[in-house]
Amino acid sequence: MEFYEEYLKEVRAQALYREPVSIKHLDAVHIQVEGKIYLSLSSNNYLGLTHSPKVQKAALDAVLQHGTGSGGARLTTGSHPLHKSLEGALAQFKGTEAALVFNTGYMANVGTISALVGKGDLIFSDELNHASIIDGCRLSKGRTVVYRHRDMKDLAEKLRDSNCPGKKLIVTDGVFSMDGDIAPLDKIVSLAEEHQAMVMVDDAHAVGVLGRGGRGTVDYFGLKGRVHVQVGTLSKSLASEGGYVAGSQMLIQYLVNKARSFIFSTALSPATVAAAASALKVLKATPQLVDKLLENAAGMRKALVAAGLKVDGALTPIIPILIGEAALAVAMNQELKEHGLFVSAIRPPTVSPGASRLRITVSAAHEKEELVKAADIIIAVSRKLKLV
Ligand SMILES: Cc1ncc(COP(=O)(O)O)c(C=O)c1O
Repeated sequence: MEFYEEYLKEVRAQALYREPVSIKHLDAVHIQVEGKIYLSLSSNNYLGLTHSPKVQKAALDAVLQHGTGSGGARLTTGSHPLHKSLEGALAQFKGTEAALVFNTGYMANVGTISALVGKGDLIFSDELNHASIIDGCRLSKGRTVVYRHRDMKDLAEKLRDSNCPGKKLIVTDGVFSMDGDIAPLDKIVSLAEEHQAMVMVDDAHAVGVLGRGGRGTVDYFGLKGRVHVQVGTLSKSLASEGGYVAGSQMLIQYLVNKARSFIFSTALSPATVAAAASALKVLKATPQLVDKLLENAAGMRKALVAAGLKVDGALTPIIPILIGEAALAVAMNQELKEHGLFVSAIRPPTVSPGASRLRITVSAAHEKEELVKAADIIIAVSRKLKLV
């Protein structure tokens, strides 16, 4: 066991040791930690729907009507009507023939990639794709070619040089989780069509954010019918837990029969599914939530950029401040806590060494005034730590 002890010593020495902080959610954007209240700028609860009375009631009603656990995997113990109904609603929202719910977004990626790609096949994967995509590639029996982040010249060259008689899959985050920038999906699709490759996009951070009424990147770029696999999660804008794949009827039937993370895991509980279905209904009925989210993101980004901070990303609610050293990112996180702000310090292995950052996320549930105040604090602390 000494090996593991050594490993822990090493990560502590490098300011990379991590453990979950115990927090109490007071509402969608305020949390309590050890008795102190913070404004959270670290959650993926983009639309604040975790605390929507409608969504909460849907979850409670589902527990009372259907019990707590689902009892088993859907293929062996039977499929609950709530799952089917959510899948229908997701397919309709994403503009696809069908959808399939997985237990997490992580499992959707791992199960789908390993089911679609076999021996002799090639995967082309953006270097900043989410860990669940990377793990799906590792678990598949195909070979993975990593292309430079959002670099279409590099992707085109790698496709041209690939000389692969097997299947080809290009996979990308829609909105990159730690950078907040958007994949050039229109260009990826054109290249895929030129090279007879399939396209898979992970819209974990794009649903509720991009496209009409938050329908995601395929809608944002007007690519209906040209992207083979759309992955999403129920855990961010949809305020619950779980993941899904949206695509053709045939794709979904194939995954039901082939994706091991779907086949061999107990289905999501009724309350979880009911909450996601209700959040989706709220999103469809209130697309203004997406407008408010994007306004909040634009306001925060504008304030930080005006102060000279090195802020990455596009128009999305993920606003990373690049810092570099892990220890400095932790120091900034601690300083902000002193001022009542809870912001994640992102360090390796989530990002590469030297790319530590503060990952600010805003929500539609934030009030404009509290974001203005938060931006002032972030700027003041950045100056104190000589980041600007
Ligand atoms: C891009 C991306 N894909 C997939 C996931 C995994 O989703 P889940 O948390 O539902 O497992 C995440 C984040 O957690 C993510 O950021």
